[in-house]
Amino acid sequence: MSYPSNSSLLARAWRSLAQKGPLGLGRDVRDYTRWRLGSGTSHVADRPPLPLSNWDLNGQELRTLPETLRSKPILVYAEASTRCNLHCFMCRLSFPETTRRVRQNMSLETFAKLEPLLEPGSRLSLFGLGEPLMNPDFVEMLRIAKERDVFVGLNSNAMLLTEPIARAMVELQQDLLMISFSGGTKETYERVITGANYERVLANLRRFNEIKRSAISDQRSAVSDQQSAVSSQYSALDIEQVKPVLELQYTAMRDNLQEIPDAVRLAIDLRCAGMVVMPLTVVNPSLEEQSILDPELRSQLAAVSEAAREVAATASYPFDLQLPSLITHHPSLICHEPWQTFYVRDDGTVNCCCYSNRVLGDLKEQDALEVWNGELYRRFRARMRLEDKPAECRVCHKLCGGDEYDQRVDAEQFYDEL
Ligand SMILES: C[S@@+](CC[C@H](N)C(=O)[O-])C[C@H]1O[C@@H](n2cnc3c(N)ncnc32)[C@H](O)[C@@H]1O
Ligand code: SF4
Ligand code: SF4
Repeated sequence: MSYPSNSSLLARAWRSLAQKGPLGLGRDVRDYTRWRLGSGTSHVADRPPLPLSNWDLNGQELRTLPETLRSKPILVYAEASTRCNLHCFMCRLSFPETTRRVRQNMSLETFAKLEPLLEPGSRLSLFGLGEPLMNPDFVEMLRIAKERDVFVGLNSNAMLLTEPIARAMVELQQDLLMISFSGGTKETYERVITGANYERVLANLRRFNEIKRSAISDQRSAVSDQQSAVSSQYSALDIEQVKPVLELQYTAMRDNLQEIPDAVRLAIDLRCAGMVVMPLTVVNPSLEEQSILDPELRSQLAAVSEAAREVAATASYPFDLQLPSLITHHPSLICHEPWQTFYVRDDGTVNCCCYSNRVLGDLKEQDALEVWNGELYRRFRARMRLEDKPAECRVCHKLCGGDEYDQRVDAEQFYDEL
């Protein structure tokens, strides 16, 4: 079995976040996280065992699914902002009935309350619904997280990827930056990513790469000044492998399906490590006609996928292309999110995943660890082990299979008591 390159491992790790995403269509947090290095189980027999990492402790606890956990979450979402500078026509935020009533930036005070949960090796998704770069405290949040050695990734539309923000991302070694790019031409891109400017986004991404390039050359000269023998390790660094690893995320729909190969070409030109193509989620009936799950589009998707793979193969480096399989989720008896995930909304209220709007705590009034093992999280875990699951889980793709988004999860009255 060939071992994936570092950049592709990072990208896969991030997909567990991006695919789970604020749309709620996701997979188990651990599915994509084989990239992790240095686990507590890799000690040599004659040495004392390393202390168990939070990751491993969580893995152990998943075997018995206790209501109270010794481990902390391995995936934390911090919804940096639910405000947005754009209004993409397929986004949940663009529909009044599915929109959060209040849109705001997460305060630094709320974000700081997450610190006790940020364990080395855990993942922080520094976005949720909305555009994270709208938050003026974004860089400070990134700094706090990276000081705690957390894997940080986020999705952005890149319109606000200014020079200072790009520099901060490179200097602080943000791990992954996924850019929403859902078109292969200016016309389609600007129609889907409604309100964006094609030229501006490309210019922002090229400048971001320039900043990465100069960081690599600084590293190289620092090393060769000190010890020329090891300088070759830096000369082997390619821009697509250097943090923040850049990727494109393409939301595929009827209108832009044909342009996937063009977007792959663009991604390679931008030295992205890969591109992930996600099928559009029908978050509102008006989007039904755009769904690529339509059987009519299957043969078209197959042909486009083949063409996209051919373009990906022309890259001079390993390009990680992920295309939709259309057979995404299978029914399941249990979902592990309540044992793994902690989703903090812009206002500090906590959900157990990106699909549920059930409030399990509030960081304005409680400590994060108090919420994680609080009564509501414990009751939620207990219900998940029973046949009678919480209301939102009974309609969730994670347990039911398929890719349906049930809009009832947006209505408060839908939620039963735990
Ligand atoms: C909700 S956005 C939030 C982050 C940021 N504003 C951005 O656009 O990257 C996260 C991702 O969801 C994608 N998305 C939005 N609406 C979608 C839908 N109905 N189905 C599938 N993906 C969608 C966006 O294209 C983006 O890549
Ligand atoms: S940029 Fe992101 S959050 Fe804003 S409307 Fe588009 S998909 Fe939604
Ligand atoms: S709603 Fe329930 S089943 Fe769906 S992801 Fe959340 S916890 Fe899991």
